[in-house]
Amino acid sequence: MSLLKKSHREMDYIRVSGKLKAFRYSIKRGHVFSQIIDRMKWHWAPKFFIVVDFPTHLDIEASASCQMRCPMCLRRSIPDIAHGTMDFDLYKKIIDEASQRGVYSIKLSWRGEPLLNPNIVKMVKYAKDKGIKDVAFLTNGERLSEKMAIDLTEAGLDWISFSIDGMGETYERIRWPETFDGIVKKVKFLKEYRDGKGLEKPLIRVQTIWGAVKNNPGEYFDFWEKIADKVYIIADQLRYETASFPKNPEYICPEPWRRMVIGADGTVPNCISDYEELNPLGDVKKQSLYEIWHGEKFNKLRELIRNGKIFENKPCAMCHDAGLMYPKTVKIGNKQIKIWLYEGQEIDVSKMDARPKNKKAQD
Ligand SMILES: C[S@@+](CC[C@H](N)C(=O)[O-])C[C@H]1O[C@@H](n2cnc3c(N)ncnc32)[C@H](O)[C@@H]1O
Ligand code: SF4
Repeated sequence: MSLLKKSHREMDYIRVSGKLKAFRYSIKRGHVFSQIIDRMKWHWAPKFFIVVDFPTHLDIEASASCQMRCPMCLRRSIPDIAHGTMDFDLYKKIIDEASQRGVYSIKLSWRGEPLLNPNIVKMVKYAKDKGIKDVAFLTNGERLSEKMAIDLTEAGLDWISFSIDGMGETYERIRWPETFDGIVKKVKFLKEYRDGKGLEKPLIRVQTIWGAVKNNPGEYFDFWEKIADKVYIIADQLRYETASFPKNPEYICPEPWRRMVIGADGTVPNCISDYEELNPLGDVKKQSLYEIWHGEKFNKLRELIRNGKIFENKPCAMCHDAGLMYPKTVKIGNKQIKIWLYEGQEIDVSKMDARPKNKKAQD
């Protein structure tokens, strides 16, 4: 099998709508050339095992803590997962180096909920002032007050992705204590504020796990298409509960050639799938990002992957990315859409309930 085929994996999310809006947004942002360079580094450096001078993208964890208890989330399977929010001085150190080295994009979410970081608006503004072209995060949205929506927009946030799993009652079971009407109101407010100001940003994405909409994906799409700029469905992933789903033994992971993840406490894990930091590659409190990226541990990880020994590394052996996928044709409105799902990684949403028996309790 050729190298290109080995490193190929179907996308585990499907953009149901918004191609045209996303294109217009890219043009209006005015840095199409930088975006093309970024996409080339992102896709092609891993295919040819080129260790670029510096990663084009950083995942910086604003908060490792979360106020929700979504039953499918990795947090539920790892009781000792890290907690806490990133210190602003540590964040500044990261952004100062990243901006000097020409990082194109940062995502301020990883394992927890970014809006729990009291400095989140300042973090967005600092990165934008330093010239990072693409600043974004995924959020459960529960803490998005009107003031925060306004402040994030004014700070220059490029895009925001709301994780809204399913509709109505399904959503409320998974994403307690938020309500469906509550999250709709928050997303609508942000959109109306942005549009009222005549701004393009932040681009608003809404996404759901497949398991939460599989009985009626059209209903979800019809509802959110009118409010959000993009609607995504993401394949269900089993994270940590079991590593026994079928895997592609030939899988070559592209991640260590294009992105670096920094946990809220400054630890650099293997990648975004190393939720427990089982293979720490460095510590930003003590080292520069550049040192870590070119360090012995990062290179060792790359060697393992290149030599087809990926599953000798514990976080890789548990990673859903290496899972085999199958196609499924889904009818949404009058469109037939092909989506790719992971074999043996379905989530049974009907058995999920995050609401505590005593509704006042929360962890
Ligand atoms: C871990 S959360 C962190 C950011 C934020 N707290 C949120 O909920 O968006 C990031 C994304 O992972 C998704 N996610 C969590 N568990 C998942 C699973 N088992 N399969 C697929 N996606 C999952 C969530 O829906 C969310 O969109
Ligand atoms: S809100 Fe996000 S991080 Fe928190 S439990 Fe849900 S999916 Fe996990």
